[in-house]
Amino acid sequence: MTLTETRRQAPPAVVARALTKVYGQGDAQVHALSGVDVSFATGAFTAIMGPSGSGKSTLMHCLAGLDSATSGTVHIGDVELTGLSDKQLTLLRRERIGFIFQAFNLLPTLTAEQNIRLPLEIAGRLADQQLFDRVIATVGLKDRLKHKPSELSGGQQQRVAVARALISKPQVIFADEPTGNLDSRSGAEVLSFLRTSVRELGQTIVMVTHDPVAASYADRVVFLRDGALISELAQPSPQTVLDTLMKLEG
Ligand SMILES: Nc1ncnc2c1ncn2[C@@H]1O[C@H](COP(=O)(O)OP(=O)(O)OP(=O)(O)O)[C@@H](O)[C@H]1O
Ligand SMILES: [Mg+2]
Repeated sequence: MTLTETRRQAPPAVVARALTKVYGQGDAQVHALSGVDVSFATGAFTAIMGPSGSGKSTLMHCLAGLDSATSGTVHIGDVELTGLSDKQLTLLRRERIGFIFQAFNLLPTLTAEQNIRLPLEIAGRLADQQLFDRVIATVGLKDRLKHKPSELSGGQQQRVAVARALISKPQVIFADEPTGNLDSRSGAEVLSFLRTSVRELGQTIVMVTHDPVAASYADRVVFLRDGALISELAQPSPQTVLDTLMKLEG
């Protein structure tokens, strides 16, 4: 069986059912998510888009166990997040989930290599050296491993953050506007590394973005408006993403 066939038969990496999130109380209530049903295929790259305030970050935080939903369920693989204790959630995030944020969140006193290895060390796991070499080659950081973050460009720093997320082979990587702080060339670099990690390492990625070009690197785009999933697109191009966004806003 090829890698693609294997992935197609795998159960989804992440499933949300009837997910709602209400912030605040009384008059100040905000329905950030109002009944989202969505699943993210294993080994696929999915983008989440929608206007500012449509609930993208809230959805991602609830899917990743960083925030708790008001109602509904989230499964990461066969584990249901609802009802897990804080301690169990921390373990689950550590063992099954990778994160990439807009701010690179690297530790300034550690080298690139130390930053990449840190999550595994915290989890008391050994890095698979073959995977480490492959990830470093994939993100093109071989001659930058001994550098501190301050000695790297923004794009290189974000590639370190991507490598750090990939190295523990998480069941899913969540990325919230990973290219939001990068110029378009560095952004393109990071996006093609994400794309390559899906194709060659079989990584599952869910990425929030505002940028139609960034979204076009994904296999699928889902669109949120007012906390609800209202549309989706397979094999997106920058133009079809833009067309869909215009329709949603019109
Ligand atoms: N901690 C909070 N307390 C109260 N309201 C919140 C909180 N976090 C988010 N919201 C509200 O929930 C809604 C969804 O916010 P969210 O951050 O998910 O939007 P978003 O789609 O990620 O927006 P952006 O594109 O601007 O990042 C917004 O109306 C926001 O004001
Ligand atoms: Mg957001």
